[in-house]
Amino acid sequence: AKAAARFLWEQRDVVRTMPKRTRSSHKGTHGKLLIVGGSKAMSGAVTMTAKAALRSGAGLVTMAVPETVYEAAANRVPEAMCRLWPAEDGAFAGAADWDGLDIDAMAIGPGMGRTDGVRRLVGELVRHPVPLVIDADALFFWDDYAERVRGRNAPTVITPHPGEMARIVHRSVREVEHDRFGVSKRLAMEYGVYVVLKGPYTIVTAPDGAQYVNATGNPALAKGGSGDVLTGIVAAFLLQHEAVQPAVSNAVFVHGKAADWLVQHGHSPWDVLASDVIDALPAVLASLT
Ligand code: APR
Ligand code: MG
Repeated sequence: AKAAARFLWEQRDVVRTMPKRTRSSHKGTHGKLLIVGGSKAMSGAVTMTAKAALRSGAGLVTMAVPETVYEAAANRVPEAMCRLWPAEDGAFAGAADWDGLDIDAMAIGPGMGRTDGVRRLVGELVRHPVPLVIDADALFFWDDYAERVRGRNAPTVITPHPGEMARIVHRSVREVEHDRFGVSKRLAMEYGVYVVLKGPYTIVTAPDGAQYVNATGNPALAKGGSGDVLTGIVAAFLLQHEAVQPAVSNAVFVHGKAADWLVQHGHSPWDVLASDVIDALPAVLASLT
């Protein structure tokens, strides 16, 4: 058998692969992103994803949310557009409304909840042939749509934390943590997806089995919302990079680096909020160009 291809993805790799913005750039150049998420109990997740995507260079961001979170979502991110999709009991009712929507990529999952309506909606969304990031509650229904993911003809990126990964591969969290490389690689190769297994030393695995380890980040990120921020950065970078693996690895690097920057600039690992991570993106991105 061939030796496992494993690499450390470092700052010099990021600098080498970050896309350059030219003077002729306009918002269409940088892509139209649809973020599908939110529920009555979790209205902040989708707005953090949206804000992180905008701060990471996405050209146009639309949030699709259930009716019940429309006002909160629309008011929190004035730069994003907002669409109301059918709701039921404070969560998505199951149907998507594509009317007049023109998108280049999609991120699904943040704060959606796990109702049957969400299950039906996610099953429909994965059919849409654009680059797709699947996170959080959308990963909960993996078994329902995994075969459809295998057949997609646009890139798919999944961003599970170890608990979500354990559910996907039908193992315990312990088993996942014990074999992070092996579990990621089998999943990526079997379904043809990019797998981001989160945690300290997040591993990005490409569908060909190559693996890229990230060394940025710190325990300041161990707080609700930081995963939602990562999803926004990944989606925005997918829109702006030529190749998927550098887009995903760069996003993971920048996300961790923002948390590192915060603890080097007056924050402690205890106080950092996910929104602070978004606010640190300008400093980190400026240092990479
Ligand atoms: N060192 C480096 N990075 C870390 C560390 C650490 N000690 N702890 C966490 N992180 C990073 C992870 O690598 C990941 O990028 O912070 C992010 C955390 O993401 P999630 O685990 O998805 O957390 P989040 O989504 O913010 O909150 C948890 O989301 O998926 C749902 O069911 C989940 O409700 C739960 C919620
Ligand atoms: Mg999460």
